[in-house]
Formats: sequence, C-alpha cells, structure tokens
Amino acid sequence: MNSLFGKTIVVAGATGGIGEGVTKRLLQHGAKVVALGRNEDKLEQLRVYLSSSVDTNNLITLQVNLDQGQEGSREVYDKLKERFGYLDGAVVAIGTWGEANRRLIDVSDELWEQAIQDNLTSHFRTLRTLVPLLKTDGALIHLSGLSADSPYPGAGLIGLTNAAKKSLVLTMAAEQDSNGPRIYELIIGPIRTRERVARGVARANWYDPEDLGGFMSELIQGDTEAAQKPLHYMIQRGS
Ligand SMILES: NC(=O)c1ccc[n+]([C@@H]2O[C@H](COP(=O)([O-])OP(=O)(O)OC[C@H]3O[C@@H](n4cnc5c(N)ncnc54)[C@H](OP(=O)(O)O)[C@@H]3O)[C@@H](O)[C@H]2O)c1
Repeated sequence: MNSLFGKTIVVAGATGGIGEGVTKRLLQHGAKVVALGRNEDKLEQLRVYLSSSVDTNNLITLQVNLDQGQEGSREVYDKLKERFGYLDGAVVAIGTWGEANRRLIDVSDELWEQAIQDNLTSHFRTLRTLVPLLKTDGALIHLSGLSADSPYPGAGLIGLTNAAKKSLVLTMAAEQDSNGPRIYELIIGPIRTRERVARGVARANWYDPEDLGGFMSELIQGDTEAAQKPLHYMIQRGS
C-alpha cells in the first residue's frame, strides 16, 4: 500500500466525483497529495469526506484557479513551485458537462465558446502550468471520455472536446524528450462516482474513481510495461 511513499502528487479537480476518489487512493498508497480546486467550500467538503475513511495527514487542500492566462499561470506555477518544489506526479481530472446536451446544429456561438473554454482551453492551460513543474522522472495523467474516439450524437460538444484533448495530451507527450517527464492520456468510460451511486444510476461493471487512482499510482511509479505507453483505456470492468 505504501508504493507512493515520499512522492508529492497534485490532483487538479480533486473536488470532483473522480478527483475525490483518485485523491483517496493516492493517499492510501502513501503519497502526499496536493488537492487543487477553485472553491474553498468544496475543498473543505473534500477534507471532511476523506477524513472519514483515510489518514489525511498527507492531504493538503489548496484553492487555485489553473484556468488562467499566461500571467496568472505563471503566478500559479511560482506558488506551487515555492511551496512544493518539483512534483512526482500530477493528475488532471477537471471538466464541465455544462449545457452540452444538444445536437451540434443547435449549438449557439456562446455555448460553443463556453464549451471550448471549459473543456479544452482550461485543460491546455492546466497542462501548460503543471508539466514544467514535474520532475524529469515524474508523470502527469490526464482524463478524457470515450467519445474522444467516436461520435457522440446529442452531446457533440463533449465528444469533440474529448477528441481535441486526446490530441493535446498525446502531442505534449510526444514533445517531451526521452529524459523528460512522462505524460499519459487515460480514456475512461462512465465512472461509479459517489453521486451516481447515491442516485442509484451507477452500474456494477463501471469502474470506481478509486480504481482509476490505483492505475494512476502504477503509471506514476513508472516501472511497469503499461507505464511505457502514453495512451490507456479504462472503459468497463472486463473490457
Ligand atoms: N464521471 C464520468 O463518468 C466521466 C466519464 C468520462 C469522462 N469524464 C471526465 O472526467 C473529468 C472529471 O469528471 P467528474 O465526473 O469528476 O466531474 P465533476 O464531478 O463535475 O468534477 C469536475 C472537477 O473539475 C473542476 N473544474 C471544472 N472546470 C474547471 C476549470 N475550468 N478549471 C479548473 N477546474 C475545473 C471542478 O473543480 P471546482 O471545485 O474548482 O469547481 C471539479 O473538481 C471531466 O473532464 C469529465 O468530462 C468523466
């Protein structure tokens, strides 16, 4: 269980349904986890939730907005670097469904711009800040949905931003030289978040957020065959 002992890992989007479970599993594996979110109340709720099931001595919650222009990004970079130094790992589990539930032909200019901002520009800015913070043997893992690979009728804004995020992350991975940090794209199917379990809509063969955290631990450690490849899929148990 202590496979990440001594490692410092940032989780962007730690207050989300996936981020909280990933944070929990990384703490269970012995990492120091810096949980980032934009909302102080949600960060406090995260701490309360985790305190009931895991040792939170190694949990640091930090209110930070990673979705900023170059000047703001530089300030965030400096703040994280000064406080934590170079990182062993980073997980990017941000994103917003927003009002994506419509056919592309019905998407307004405003909605289009918002979706690109929330689900693509914000991810680019987050990677632009976090990748230079990684140790050369560190690793960043980014999440995208399965619609990165195939049409998603009725929610095309989500699908097309997933496809673009997949390209963004794999390109950044390819742009690292052989001594640079490792960058991974993890494509996921529907996840058994706490909120879905509580609503009774989570299926048994969906992965739990903690399962994602377990696989991420393996990638961050970097000594398995899987860690040699930048693209991974966790769609459904057994698939
Ligand atoms: N859940 C699934 O089944 C599933 C399946 C496929 C793909 N995904 C993708 O996985 C990611 C996380 O999903 P989730 O279910 O955990 O979502 P969620 O519960 O809605 O959480 C989203 C998290 O992202 C953060 N966030 C949103 N927009 C941000 C921005 N512009 N800048 C910084 N942080 C931002 C939120 O943080 P704040 O506290 O700061 O608001 C929140 O912590 C999303 O991209 C989602 O599309 C999820």
